[in-house]
Amino acid sequence: MMTDKRIIQISTPDLGEEEWQALREPLFSGWVTQGPKVKEFETLFAQRHQVKHALAVSNCTTALHLALLACGVREGDEVLVPAFTWVSTANAVLYCNATPVFVDVDPITFNIAPEKIAAAITSKTKAIIPVHLFGLCADIDAIKRIAPQLKIVEDGACAAGAALHNRPAGSLGDLGCFSFHPRKSVTTGEGGMITTNDDALAAEVDRLRNHGASISEEQRHKGPRPYILPEFEVVGYNYRMTDLQGAVGVVQLKKLDRYIDERQRRAEWYAEQLKSIPWLRTPVVADGYKHGWQSFVTFVDESKSPMKRNDIMEYLQQRGISTRPGTHAVHMLQYYANRYNIKPSDFPGAQAANDFSMAIPLHNRMNDDDYAYIVNALRSIS
Ligand SMILES: Cc1ncc(COP(=O)(O)O)c(C=O)c1O
Repeated sequence: MMTDKRIIQISTPDLGEEEWQALREPLFSGWVTQGPKVKEFETLFAQRHQVKHALAVSNCTTALHLALLACGVREGDEVLVPAFTWVSTANAVLYCNATPVFVDVDPITFNIAPEKIAAAITSKTKAIIPVHLFGLCADIDAIKRIAPQLKIVEDGACAAGAALHNRPAGSLGDLGCFSFHPRKSVTTGEGGMITTNDDALAAEVDRLRNHGASISEEQRHKGPRPYILPEFEVVGYNYRMTDLQGAVGVVQLKKLDRYIDERQRRAEWYAEQLKSIPWLRTPVVADGYKHGWQSFVTFVDESKSPMKRNDIMEYLQQRGISTRPGTHAVHMLQYYANRYNIKPSDFPGAQAANDFSMAIPLHNRMNDDDYAYIVNALRSIS
């Protein structure tokens, strides 16, 4: 019986000596904005996710913005987004002056419910953003069958290394977007990546991330004609990643598969240990899905539990165990609820996920005792 109180964070990035050493090169060379380290990171990321192009950006929110612009999403267009996701999936649509149209999620996978998509499509619908929530791929094959006319921008913020029938996240739609925020499996502090197999989309993302410039700073510095300045044919953005982040990203990405393997093993152990708790549902992973395990999100069935979800979270917090709701239902956030006059019950799957999901700690800085401590704490709730 373990009695000592532990402090276990919901997530802790696994950063250390190797990342520290990797920073030396850009720091001492003086090349700290997008340059050779970002290129190296992009090349590795493209290889790992089996895509032709990977373009690094400042974070996944800016990645989503650029991916939608590259797909031609403009004012008056509609873009389908799951109602249960991080707010920036929908915000990115608003940045394009387009309209996010919410689609309910499947309460078991927490991902967009394919059978709810057809009813949300209108003549204005241009694109869909399926989110691979918590690292589990959305059912892209079903989406392609239902809506072959739509551009698909994968929100793979949580899904580095995940796959669907051996096809990696980021290679499933027209473009894929990833996050390297510290709560993700691999981190560069802030950071993002856009993947695509389409040369034209890649070229458009490339210029938009760099002020809309027709040639990059790196090309300009290497070029033989110093008087040449880039041409600017469109309004672009400064959404570039720094070479400091790129250097850290290279080191982190090399550890991605080890991280996921460990998380997979721990997730299986959790599922086994927690299955005797009648009020707690652990993640369900269907055949053919390789989960990226960005987080381990359970569902509290309050009709069977002795306490409400929020009380359970407080109880665990008092024992030093951090938990979080999986994420939020965007249609229930004040801005979206007011702007589009939406009721929580309009998307019941998302509402339930909002109210009853509970992420428990799963990351690469935890040991056997941490996991056992969490299982014991959950079992003690009766
Ligand atoms: C599903 C989803 N989309 C987008 C984002 C935004 O990522 P970033 O913080 O890199 O902008 C997140 C971040 O948590 C996310 O979980």
